Amino acid sequence: MPPDYKKLYEIVCDLYSDTDHFYYGQWDETFYTLRVFETCKMLIKRTRNKIEEEIILTAAIFHDIGKTKLDTEKKIKNEWDTHPNYGAEITRKILRKQGYSNGFVEKVVYLVKHHDNRPGKVEMVRSSELKILQDADLLADMGIASFVRPFLYSGKNKRKTIDNVNYIKTTRSHDGGISKENLYRLNLKSSKRLAIKFIKESDRLNNKIFKMTQSELVE
Ligand SMILES: [Fe+2]
Ligand SMILES: [Fe+2]
Repeated sequence: MPPDYKKLYEIVCDLYSDTDHFYYGQWDETFYTLRVFETCKMLIKRTRNKIEEEIILTAAIFHDIGKTKLDTEKKIKNEWDTHPNYGAEITRKILRKQGYSNGFVEKVVYLVKHHDNRPGKVEMVRSSELKILQDADLLADMGIASFVRPFLYSGKNKRKTIDNVNYIKTTRSHDGGISKENLYRLNLKSSKRLAIKFIKESDRLNNKIFKMTQSELVE
């Protein structure tokens, strides 16, 4: 029987709902978790390697759960890199409690623990499963999601919409920190192709809203 993804998603959403920072606005993990899960599916479809799909999709649901331990501005700023380790612990506890086998649990925990150890940051041998999760995590933040994110931020931080549009103009890219120049952070060729497509998508949307807000009233 495949894992009960919906139930696991509900469990992590419950944990996020107890936080101040990861339940709404620009860091709404109930949204990003769903997007990473679905983006993993896109990459799984495109791979020719033999992979353990259930491990990847379960890890997608849990990968950022460690952020629930960093629910203050200070911790977010200073301890961000600890979230995969916290996440590994929380994931192990929940999956064991849900009755998953030890072998299954440890494979998922491994992906959660290393999801942030990307090319360019850490040198390591990556399994096909880890490559997919790492890439999906970045891709999920690109395209339409990256267009929306600054607006979520502006709402949460009471920044005016027009000011927000002007802010977007001053930044090169919101695509999860990915621009065409730093595609090296992605593992797979298929991810790079998708990233280029997504960057075009957000560029198009941004250009549209730049035009929409051009007015003598704000010149
Ligand atoms: Fe993360
Ligand atoms: Fe993530």
